[in-house]
Amino acid sequence: MNSTSPRLEAVTPANVDAALALRVHPHQTENVAPVAHSLAEAYAHGETAWPRLVFDGEELVGFLMAFVDIQWNPAKDPADRRSGLWRLNIGAEHQGKGYGRFAVDAVREELARRGAREMYVSWEPGEHGPGDFYRRLGFEETGETSGGQTVGVLGIGPGGAQGA
Ligand SMILES: CC(C)(COP(=O)(O)OP(=O)(O)OC[C@H]1O[C@@H](n2cnc3c(N)ncnc32)[C@H](O)[C@@H]1OP(=O)(O)O)[C@@H](O)C(=O)NCCC(=O)NCCS
Repeated sequence: MNSTSPRLEAVTPANVDAALALRVHPHQTENVAPVAHSLAEAYAHGETAWPRLVFDGEELVGFLMAFVDIQWNPAKDPADRRSGLWRLNIGAEHQGKGYGRFAVDAVREELARRGAREMYVSWEPGEHGPGDFYRRLGFEETGETSGGQTVGVLGIGPGGAQGA
C-alpha cells in the first residue's frame, strides 16, 4: 500500500472515468464483471446495490459492490434474505497489497452497521478463481452453488465469527 490508508469513495462525475478504466489481470476476467457492467446493475438495482471505489491517496485501486438484504432464491424460500459482497475488482497492478482485504473488511463493517449477521459471497471455482483469498479471510463454503459459483459465508456482527 501507499503511505496513506485506503478509503472508500462513492462513484462521482469526477472519478467515474477512472473507475471504468479499472482492469484486473487478463487471466482473471472470467472471475468478475467489468466495472461498467456492475455500475449498470447498480443503477438498475437501486438501494439493494452498494457500489464503492477503493482509493489510496489520489490513486483508484479497486471497485466493490455489496448487495443488501435481497431475496436469495424466492422460489425456494421467500424468507431467505441475504447480504454480501457482489463484486470485487482490485486493479491488476494493485493486487497483493492488502486492498482486497481492506475492501472485504469495509463491506463487513457496512453490512454489520445495517444489522446483517452474515456476509455472503460467491466465486468462480478453479485455478485462477479467488476461493483461496476468501477462505484466507475466514469465509466458509455453505455447500451451495449459485449460477455455477461456489457460495461462501462469513459470520459478522455480534456473536458472528470474525474473519482472520
Ligand atoms: C481476489 C482479489 C480481490 C484479491 O485482492 P488483493 O488485493 O490482491 O488481496 P490482498 O492483498 O488483500 O490479500 C489478502 C490476503 O489474501 C491472500 N490472497 C490474495 N489473493 C490470493 C489468492 N489468489 N490465493 C491465495 N491467497 C490469496 C493474500 O496473500 C493475503 O494474505 P495475508 O494478508 O495473510 O498475507 C484480487 O486478486 C482480484 O481483484 N482478482 C480478480 C477479480 C476477482 O476474482 N474478484 C473476486 C470476485 S468474487
